[in-house]
Amino acid sequence: MTETATFKTGSLDKSFPTLSGTVGPEVVDIRKFYAETNMFTYDPGYTSTASCQSAITYIDGDQGILLHRGYPIDQLAEQSSFMEVSYLLLHGELPSAEQLKEFSWTISRHTMVHEQLSTFYRAFRRDAHPMAIMCGVVGALSAFYHDSTDITDPIQRLIASHRLIAKMPTLAAMAFKYSIGQPFLYPQNELSYTGNFLRMTFGVPAEPYEVNPIIEQAMDKIFILHADHEQNASTSTVRLAGSSGANPFACMAAGIACLWGPAHGGANEAALNMLREIGDVKRIPEYIARAKDKNDPFRLMGFGHRVYKNFDPRAKVMKATADKVLKELGKSDPVLDVAKELEHIALNDPYFIDKKLYPNVDFYSGVILNAIGFPTEMFTVLFALARTVGWVAQWNEMISDPEQKIGRPRQLYVGETQRDYVPVDRR
Ligand code: SDX
Repeated sequence: MTETATFKTGSLDKSFPTLSGTVGPEVVDIRKFYAETNMFTYDPGYTSTASCQSAITYIDGDQGILLHRGYPIDQLAEQSSFMEVSYLLLHGELPSAEQLKEFSWTISRHTMVHEQLSTFYRAFRRDAHPMAIMCGVVGALSAFYHDSTDITDPIQRLIASHRLIAKMPTLAAMAFKYSIGQPFLYPQNELSYTGNFLRMTFGVPAEPYEVNPIIEQAMDKIFILHADHEQNASTSTVRLAGSSGANPFACMAAGIACLWGPAHGGANEAALNMLREIGDVKRIPEYIARAKDKNDPFRLMGFGHRVYKNFDPRAKVMKATADKVLKELGKSDPVLDVAKELEHIALNDPYFIDKKLYPNVDFYSGVILNAIGFPTEMFTVLFALARTVGWVAQWNEMISDPEQKIGRPRQLYVGETQRDYVPVDRR
């Protein structure tokens, strides 16, 4: 028997079915709500709205739990690899050794980009933000890979998915190289996915590049921590773009554009800049006060989350990784001390406790990325690189979902009612 939710207002008394998932809140199916009530629901920011059914990632914000196809993020971060998690997100199950070998080989066969793509980079100013470059070149992939843009063909969708996962490291490394005036390096496919990226980023043609296993492992873990995260803003952007039938490269470019915002993926760059600006633990109270001041637009970057009202489990792993990487690299960073003290003070402050504001994935990531040698402008590019597999998995799920149709929200109109045009000489 289908459970229902009843809506009553004035003479209206309507019931709508409720749906249950495998875990998490039930939903009220309001697809017929407007037809039956002549009213819209109103939910700016979609704080209480499920946009789709999905089997890829589940977050329990109160418990601080993140599952990818049912597997907890801390177990994946400690025991898996980004290639293995990519297979899991795309196909729903952990791969066998043979499946992982074949998947990694397939991805490695798509790491090169069309040679003419390199001319796109030369059209940018050297000081262009690398996210601006990524928005441009990822969208431009549509102009080069016409044989994988027919979204109705599952084979073409799979090829486009592999191309996007494989080429993001190459494009990201090229964006970094272009910004520092060094030549692009071609992929070397005997390296791991992450090792290949590190060599293209930090290697030079003039000498061999040895992948540092500590950095390779830390980078791979960071990619895992950023791979997917339910219907966040950029994933929802990819789904909305894909719902019109746009090709996969255009959809991912839309996702990159959305991720760039400081409230979203841009927060990792903003968080490290904030920690550097604070500079000393003695200045933390000044910034805590600003974060609490309603008249000050300043927010603690890397803090707070729409879903997590407990610790972001990714932040916990990131914090431990930051300690480990700095120690193993024999580096220290006063910014990490500021971050830890800021976290301690904030988590004991009633404002943050009442609003359930905890460090999120972006709070500690910058410390590690900085220690590895990335400039802050590259942080969100790395987020986009890792999140591409999540966007691609969600995009494929959306296209295969028989219930999906073009996304077209309505509005609460608060503008002028109809009025007649007035010629300029009578205004
Ligand atoms: C990511 O959605 C995802 O899953 C995203 C992500 C992913 O993997 O895809 O997890 C990645 O984007 C992480 C979030 C990175 N952004 C930041 O770190 C930027 C700083 N944080 C915020 O701007 C904010 O917390 C958001 C955007 C993350 C969440 O905003 P919400 O859910 O819309 O909450 P809100 O802005 O309504 O804030 C609730 C209250 C407000 O106070 P009141 O109006 O109720 O008095 O908390 C306050 C806010 O002022 N608040 C903060 C704060 N974040 C929220 N106050 C100070 N510092 C902050 N960081």
